[in-house]
Amino acid sequence: MKILELVNATKVFGGLTAVDNVSFSIEAGEVSAIIGPNGAGKTTLFNLISGFLPPTTGEVLFNGEATTGLPTDKVAARGLARTFQLVQLFPDLTVHANVRVGAHLRSSGGIWSALIRNRQSRQQTIQVNQKASQLLEFVGLQGCADLGATELTYGQQRLLEVARALASEPKLLLLDEPAAGLNTQETSHLADVIGQIVKQGTSVLIIEHDMNLVMKIARKIIVLDFGKVIAQGTPLEVQKDPQVLDAYLGGVDYA
Ligand SMILES: Nc1ncnc2c1ncn2[C@@H]1O[C@H](COP(=O)(O)OP(=O)(O)OP(=O)(O)O)[C@@H](O)[C@H]1O
Ligand SMILES: [Mg+2]
Repeated sequence: MKILELVNATKVFGGLTAVDNVSFSIEAGEVSAIIGPNGAGKTTLFNLISGFLPPTTGEVLFNGEATTGLPTDKVAARGLARTFQLVQLFPDLTVHANVRVGAHLRSSGGIWSALIRNRQSRQQTIQVNQKASQLLEFVGLQGCADLGATELTYGQQRLLEVARALASEPKLLLLDEPAAGLNTQETSHLADVIGQIVKQGTSVLIIEHDMNLVMKIARKIIVLDFGKVIAQGTPLEVQKDPQVLDAYLGGVDYA
């Protein structure tokens, strides 16, 4: 089953076509990846998928239904969550509270109303607290619940973003360069966490420059260059593609 499909998606900024007539689909129940050089349009593509920006032309279908041009909260409510290339946590909240905010996202119409809303029942509060604790354990941050978000190491902050995104119980999770700035051990832990996320039924679409990670976890890879899809296929197919080697992977061996 297709969880996401883009049909001729295009995004023009002034004179620059950042995403150029992009079509692809990804299957539910697996990890897919978008790779490509800096400025290729990868994050812009995430912005189109998640409703941060409307496409100039083209369609986005999520779970079989058009979400083209819907705002972020409406797309989130249908089961899509994302993390950002630059960590975006609530610095003044604890680790646990950051995850609790994520749990409210689907029902409350956005992050700000989630923060100010104070009308939940006692039962809901207990459930949200339990869920936040479970998610912290899931990503390996159970000992950090009461710390301030900014007291975490950079690698831990990235995991916290993942936990917060999962709190909305997404069908599809978009991760924008989650391994950027992580050491080898942290990257390996992240790979395990992503594997568990998929096992539990959430599909994952990842943008990543760490090719060892991508080749290890992705079933399908979409390669962007100057806003265009230049190749798509399995890791093996993409690694052998002459255009991809030329644009991006040249000289690197992932055996
Ligand atoms: N809001 C915007 N307004 C104008 N131009 C933009 C905007 N967002 C992105 N761009 C431009 O669109 C192009 C694609 O940017 P994008 O951030 O999508 O690339 P990327 O593939 O994510 O790169 P990186 O690997 O460096 O994160 C770049 O030339 C960028 O400067
Ligand atoms: Mg980017």
